[in-house]
Amino acid sequence: MSLNTIVRQLVTPGKGILAADESTRTIAKRFDAIGVPSTEETRRQYRELLFTTPGIEQYISGVILYDETLRQQTENGIPVPELLESKGIIPGIKVDLGTKPLIPSSLEQITEGLEGLDTRIAEYYGLGARFAKWRAVITIGDGMPSDECIKKNADILATYARICQNGDVVPIVEPEVLMDGKHSSATCFDVTKEVLAAVFLALKKEAVQLGGMLLKPNMVVPGTHSGEPFMAETVAHMTLDCFRETVPQEVLGIVFLSGGQSEKQACETLNAMTHGQQHAWALSFSYGRALQATAMKTWAGKKENIPLAQEAFLQRAKLVSAAQKGEYTKEMEK
Ligand code: 13P
Repeated sequence: MSLNTIVRQLVTPGKGILAADESTRTIAKRFDAIGVPSTEETRRQYRELLFTTPGIEQYISGVILYDETLRQQTENGIPVPELLESKGIIPGIKVDLGTKPLIPSSLEQITEGLEGLDTRIAEYYGLGARFAKWRAVITIGDGMPSDECIKKNADILATYARICQNGDVVPIVEPEVLMDGKHSSATCFDVTKEVLAAVFLALKKEAVQLGGMLLKPNMVVPGTHSGEPFMAETVAHMTLDCFRETVPQEVLGIVFLSGGQSEKQACETLNAMTHGQQHAWALSFSYGRALQATAMKTWAGKKENIPLAQEAFLQRAKLVSAAQKGEYTKEMEK
């Protein structure tokens, strides 16, 4: 399948991506919050619960996996990528290796993992992955982000995207401007705009095919400690304004991260962007927490809770899918 065909499948109307690629450290934090020990087996059980949820393929077009999960099997011995494919869901893989300080003692970060990436991409392709994800992190704060941080992360993202396309894998390019901080939504707008401009400049230099990738950005939101009210309509307006100024029309799809928005907020904001509107790009989701939060809490590590957890996951995916189509209403939460 061509890169373009995969991109189009991933942004099929009413469907989006489940980000289930939490690193071992991140999933341990999430399990800790629900009192579940994080072992290879508990992680496998939890992810199997998500992927075997009956009917989930109505709302989910692709799943981003972590290296460990791509190599795991269900309890019945079916390899995870095979299980997903049997449901018409495209397996994807997180290929970055996390962040390190931009310079020693810096609070700013760059993402690692370019060394040997071509070899890993070839192996992942062999295991069934058809798209990949790389997350760059931009922090807003005192003197941050620096020009150097923005440029380095943009260059690395572009190099990653080129390597993926060379290996017939669709790159998801994720520059995440973090929500944490006291900054206003106006500052988030300015920073997001600057970051996206740098990213598209770098992608152009690397001759990345824009129709063969997906952009996974943050929305323009007020900082968590800004004191500014969080209003879905305002978020939608500012986000769309920012993208119109920075994202070329050749980009077929924008799949948002939830970035710390609650499950409801992430439905309201996406819906506010899609309701009664047409855009140059397909707008969809690639949510982690905003798809999984209730399901994970309901599961709480207990086998007997799996049916209820799957019900919660299916219901949330259905609401996010409704938001993707601009058909979500608050009444649906009841
Ligand atoms: P959240 O939706 O929880 O932000 O996760 C999406 C993701 O993949 C972050 O890299």
